Amino acid sequence: SAAEKGGYDYFMLKEIAEQPKAVADTLLGRIDGSGSLTLDEVRIPPRVLREIDKVVIVACGTAFHAGMIAKYAIEHWTRLPCEVELASEFRYRDPILDAQTLVIAISQSGETMDTLMALRHAREQGSKVLAICNTNGSTIPRESDAVLYTHAGPEVAVASTKAFLTQLVACYLVALYLGQVRGTKWGDEIRAVIRDLSSIAGAVDQVLGTMEPVRELARTLASKKTVLFLGRHVGYPVALEGALKLKELAYMHAEGFAAGELKHGPIALIEEDLPVVVVVPSPRGRSVLHDKIVSNIQEIRARGARTIVIAEEGDEAVVPYADHLVRIPATPTLLQPLVATVPLQVFACELATARGNEVDQPRNLAKSVTVE
Ligand code: AGP
Repeated sequence: SAAEKGGYDYFMLKEIAEQPKAVADTLLGRIDGSGSLTLDEVRIPPRVLREIDKVVIVACGTAFHAGMIAKYAIEHWTRLPCEVELASEFRYRDPILDAQTLVIAISQSGETMDTLMALRHAREQGSKVLAICNTNGSTIPRESDAVLYTHAGPEVAVASTKAFLTQLVACYLVALYLGQVRGTKWGDEIRAVIRDLSSIAGAVDQVLGTMEPVRELARTLASKKTVLFLGRHVGYPVALEGALKLKELAYMHAEGFAAGELKHGPIALIEEDLPVVVVVPSPRGRSVLHDKIVSNIQEIRARGARTIVIAEEGDEAVVPYADHLVRIPATPTLLQPLVATVPLQVFACELATARGNEVDQPRNLAKSVTVE
C-alpha cells in the first residue's frame, strides 16, 4: 500500500531515501566516546582474532560487491591478506581454509543458499565464520560463530540499496576493529576514519538532495541499449554495482570495468554517444589513480563516449571531459563508495521507471535466492 511505501511510489525509492538513517543506525552504539570501536556483540574473542592470518569473504550479488570493497579496507588497515569470492564458486574449488582463517559471510536476507553452503563448508574446515546480516535470527547468522547485524531495517525492493550501504559500514567496522585489536601502524588513520564515519550519514543525505539532474539524465537515456561503468580501486566494485542495478531494474546491457583494463579490450566497445559512467577517485590521497582515470575519460570521450562523471566536489580536472558531472562530497578514499553508489541507484531506478518496468519486482528475480 501507499502507506507502507511512506508516500513514495516504490519501496526502492523509500529505501534509497532511508540510507542516511540506515547508515547512522548501523554505526549507533558501536563507537564509544573516546573514538574506539566496541563490537562486543561480535562473539569472537580478541585473542582468537589476533591469531587470524587470512580473511576470506563470501557473498552473492550486491553483497559480493560490498565484500570486494571490504577487501581494500581490510588489507589496508590490518595487513591481513583478504580474498573475496562469489559464494556459488567457493566450495567447489577446494579452497584453503583452516582455524586461522576468518570467513566473513555477507547477506542481507541471511537465507541465500549459496552463501549458506559456503559458510557451512568453511566451518567444516575449522574456520571461524562471522556473518554480516540484516535479518535477525535468519539462517546464516544462526549457523555462524558470530554476527554483526546491519541495521538497515526491512528491505522490500528486490534491488538492494540501503542494505548495501549498511554492509559497507559493517565491513569498515570489522576492518577497523581487526586493526584496533591486532594493533597496526595505521593507528592514527584508523582513529581518523572512525571520526569520518560518524559524519558519513550526513554526506549520504547531501548526495540525496542533489539527485534531480541524475533523474533527468536517466530519462534521456531510456532508449539506449548499453551503459558502461568504469572505476578504479574501491570505485571498481562501485562500477560493478551500478551495472548490476541497471541490469536488474532497466533490463539493459550494462557492464562494469576496472578503468585500467580499458586498453586491454573494453575500449573497443566505445562508439559514438555510448553512455559511460565513470567513478572518479579523490584527487587527494591516491592522486596517481585520479590522474590515470582522468586520462581514461579523455580517451573514451575522444572516441565518442558520452561521459557521465561522478567526482568529488572541488575536483576541477574532470570538468573539461565530463558531458554530465555528478558531484559527491569529499570523503576519505576508502569511504567513497558510501556516497558514490547513491547516484547509481537513483539512475537505475529512474531509468527503469522511464522504461515502464516494475521497479520493486523486476522480472525473473526473487528477493532472496534460497536455492543453489
Ligand atoms: C541485489 O540488488 C540483488 N537483488 C542480489 O544480487 C542480492 O544482493 C543477492 O542475491 C544476495 O542476497 P543476500 O544479501 O540476501 O544474500
